[in-house]
Amino acid sequence: MTASHQLVVIGGGPAGYAAALYGAAAGLDVGLVEENRIGGTCLHVGCIPAKELLETAAVVRTVKHAATFGVSAGEPMIDLAISQERKQKVIDNLFKGLTSLLAGRGVTVYAGKGTLGVDHTVTVDGPEPAMLTADHVILATGSSPRTIPGFAIDGQLVVTSDELLSLNTVPERVAVIGGGAIGCEFASFLNDVGAQVTLLEAAPEILPGCDAEVAKTVRRSFKKHKIKVHAGVSVNGHAPTGATTTVAFGEDETAEVDLVVVAVGRRPNGDAAGLVGTRVVVDDRGFIEVNEALLTGEPGVYAVGDVVNTPQLAHVGFAEGMNAVKHLLGENPVPLNPATVPWCIYTHPEVAFAGLTEEAAVAAGHEIVVSSHRFMGNGRAMILGETDGLVKVIAKKDADGRAGQILGVHMVGPWVTEQLGQAYLAVNWEASVDEVAAFIQPHPTMSELFGETVLSLTGRGLHG
Ligand code: NAI
Repeated sequence: MTASHQLVVIGGGPAGYAAALYGAAAGLDVGLVEENRIGGTCLHVGCIPAKELLETAAVVRTVKHAATFGVSAGEPMIDLAISQERKQKVIDNLFKGLTSLLAGRGVTVYAGKGTLGVDHTVTVDGPEPAMLTADHVILATGSSPRTIPGFAIDGQLVVTSDELLSLNTVPERVAVIGGGAIGCEFASFLNDVGAQVTLLEAAPEILPGCDAEVAKTVRRSFKKHKIKVHAGVSVNGHAPTGATTTVAFGEDETAEVDLVVVAVGRRPNGDAAGLVGTRVVVDDRGFIEVNEALLTGEPGVYAVGDVVNTPQLAHVGFAEGMNAVKHLLGENPVPLNPATVPWCIYTHPEVAFAGLTEEAAVAAGHEIVVSSHRFMGNGRAMILGETDGLVKVIAKKDADGRAGQILGVHMVGPWVTEQLGQAYLAVNWEASVDEVAAFIQPHPTMSELFGETVLSLTGRGLHG
């Protein structure tokens, strides 16, 4: 069949489906091409399944500590297969919702591999082949787990996030290679459900890119919970012996494990949509090159989400998908600032931040004032029994020496992923300490710690 649309989106993950829904809401006739399942990595093998499993870990922790609340529940027994069924139900419900949203908006979904050729033609290679033409095309082909030499993925002994998220039993001993967001979330989950975890990170500290104090807090907490953290080490292959394998790392160290999880980043799928004969440029790392408006070298063709070199986060994909649509409509979207996007990492303790770290603010030449407060003194955190962590606010130092614009907020601790919203607004609204300090924080909540930290930057904190 042949069809023509005002907009064709290739890739149905968060960036692609956001572009399709937003474009349709703006009145465009949209076609969306997806070769697997609508929802992409995020819904099927990323954010949603990972957070669902991490919730199982949270339930285990709650049950373990139930006795301190006077509730006897015994030692928790974990049946991961049941957790997997629950996870799949959440995915299926979201998938159904998304599919009907797209249908309701009149988006035509094409099942198959989309290939962009000359003159905005998109060939769909699937059960019902199609040849599409479009006024505009958005490429949203995402990313795939990276691998490293010496650790071929066999789906049994050596896995990536894709396979780990389908685990039905808890392995006894696991080595996680890579201490970024994915590696740390998996280390946290596996530890909570009873595995002995060795975390191997090449950089000097886990969670590179996070505020140093935040990363240190997570590492300390990991160690307290018996996760063996080795930062600043290289991994040197592994030697399988039957059902186990021995991972070599560092100078001369080894760890015998039942499973190796490789979490060393995600590779952009830059060439997944053909692009032959177009002026779309893919760089040597696999990213599609775009300008500030997310336009590729081919007029009328945009690229968004993990396939472009901005933070590989679903919500950045959503924002980019919408921005590309605004741009093609002739509106003037505010370009995304990668330095101030919100980050949420669902380890125990959780991490959430927006804006510059202390180190980055200094490196950018700012004179700064910093204040941090610990959850140790927060009533709601005490009630929860979760007092590890802190909130740190970095503000510009004004000419009079007082704290001015809020440049960054960094949180580690209980439910901080749900507390980041107002910190994100403060940073991105370029709000000042005085403005934010005037807002009331509901009591008792953990978000009081953010308010208190900002208030202390006025020089008149109630609690120090
Ligand atoms: P990442 O790039 O965040 O972290 C990979 C880590 O592996 C780095 O710390 C790196 O130093 C380390 N590494 C690389 N090669 C290594 C080696 N040979 N040995 C030991 N360590 C090595 O990538 P990650 O964690 O795989 O996540 C991929 C993307 O997915 C990230 O860009 C992140 O934005 C996104 N993501 C975000 C989440 C969140 O925000 N909650 C959750 C999951 C993923």
